[in-house]
Amino acid sequence: MFRKKKPLLIVYLLFATLYLLCCNSKPEEKNTRKTIDYIKQIPGINDTIPAGVPEKGEVLIAYSDCYTCHKKDEKSVGPAFKDIAKRYPVNKTYIKKLAQKVISGGSRSWGYPVMVPHPQLSFEDAKLIVTYILSLKK
Ligand code: HEC
Repeated sequence: MFRKKKPLLIVYLLFATLYLLCCNSKPEEKNTRKTIDYIKQIPGINDTIPAGVPEKGEVLIAYSDCYTCHKKDEKSVGPAFKDIAKRYPVNKTYIKKLAQKVISGGSRSWGYPVMVPHPQLSFEDAKLIVTYILSLKK
């Protein structure tokens, strides 16, 4: 009789310990914050970017002052280029709109301070630069 009950007891104890191990300590959960993506994507069609254009834009950017306020991957004085790319679809309408904004400067799209105007940039160059920025979309 007694001999037969012993395995049952062991099984019971095993389950009890397992229960205590898994259910008593809820690890980590409390302090992990879920990351929320705050960037609202504007819906629109993405055109294919012609070969060579982003490369030209990247060179032009290097000759301008953009990197004093922008970084590629993280926000700085202005939004990260990758975040801008995430937000806007790559097509003529937005490339023109953003190129115009780079030239005339401005604020209020991102809740950041003001972007200085860049009147020395031609519209064509500004469009190349913006195409480069939007090509960072991943
Ligand atoms: C003095 C700092 C500063 C410089 C220099 C600067 N930017 Fe900006 N940029 C900003 C800020 C601030 C914003 C956000 C403006 C807003 O909230 O509307 C911004 C926004 C942008 C945007 C997004 C605009 C929008 O409406 O979403 C683009 C594209 C951009 N910059 C490109 C450039 C390029 C290209 C250059 C270089 C020619 C440049 N920036 C130089 C500060 C700067």
